[in-house]
Amino acid sequence: MSLRELAAAGGVRVGAAVSETVFDTGDETYCSLLAGEFNSLTAERAMKWMWIHPEPDRWEWAANDGLVQFAESHGMQVRGHTVVWPHWGTPPYITDCDDAAALRRHLVEHLEVLFAHWGGSVARVDVVNEPLHWLEGRLADSVWRSLMGDDYMAEVLTLAHDVDPTIELWINETHNDIVPDKHELFTKMVADLVERGLPLHGIGVQGHQLYPDFSPAPPTPERFHQVVNTYADMGLEVAVTEMDVLAHPTDSDRLDVQARIYGELVDAALSVEACREITFWGVSDAHSWVDEHFGPDRAPLLFDREGQPKPAYHAVAAAFASRARRTPTG
Ligand code: XIL
Repeated sequence: MSLRELAAAGGVRVGAAVSETVFDTGDETYCSLLAGEFNSLTAERAMKWMWIHPEPDRWEWAANDGLVQFAESHGMQVRGHTVVWPHWGTPPYITDCDDAAALRRHLVEHLEVLFAHWGGSVARVDVVNEPLHWLEGRLADSVWRSLMGDDYMAEVLTLAHDVDPTIELWINETHNDIVPDKHELFTKMVADLVERGLPLHGIGVQGHQLYPDFSPAPPTPERFHQVVNTYADMGLEVAVTEMDVLAHPTDSDRLDVQARIYGELVDAALSVEACREITFWGVSDAHSWVDEHFGPDRAPLLFDREGQPKPAYHAVAAAFASRARRTPTG
């Protein structure tokens, strides 16, 4: 059975981030893995503000439309990614904005055009991405925070919901599983948004495991389960939105270690009923953001450079199968 069949049997989505640079070449291995193994896709770059709306009067729809059409013709869902992102991916006319009213106007216009263009073809969106500092328990600095204040997420949620109440609104965050201070602050902030009744549908736990290049170790499965479960306990849906696991070139049994980590963490997440999506940040080791950012040959994904399944694939498939056994069907 393919991953997407196993996922469907467990009532969950299995997704991949799609790079338009590979997708647009029409690479057959890539496209057949994507359609055959996944039932959800996220644009790796194409829907980010900087790419889709680089200037106030310029929209670039081609990459967005190609992905949405592919998803529609292969029975896949689309996760929109992303609108408000303090760290990156935002054009200068937004980051250089120095007037709160103008920033709000830009945001509302962006949401109106984007959601109207999607017209229901994008079921959910990471409307805020990485609101906290990457590795510290504090809010990230950004134009959003400086002009709209520390409570800007509440306002973004309200504005987005007013534009289209049918699209699921998500907040996506990274490294909560390995930085306790981040988890603590983020939990407080999310609980506050929920208590105030803001239109928040779910929380994305990115799930990048960038060890040992960037973090000392991956979380234990217990810790990962606990983080995912925190948001489930608040009545929210949870998704693992950007998973990858570095296999460091110096580790001798690296692919087996990687498979164990993948299997344990996916199983820990899927054992939480409210976790209904696992998305991997790429399809095969032939293309990953890890190469650009952390060095070559970290082989972080489920398929190798030729598109063959790795031990990690089988470990993840076993975790999806275990979820399917727990989920009553019919
Ligand atoms: C990354 C993409 O993979 C790269 O191609 C791009 O150069 C930078 O952004 N967290 C996120 C993703 O939320 O959007 C990032 O994607 C990876 C980290």
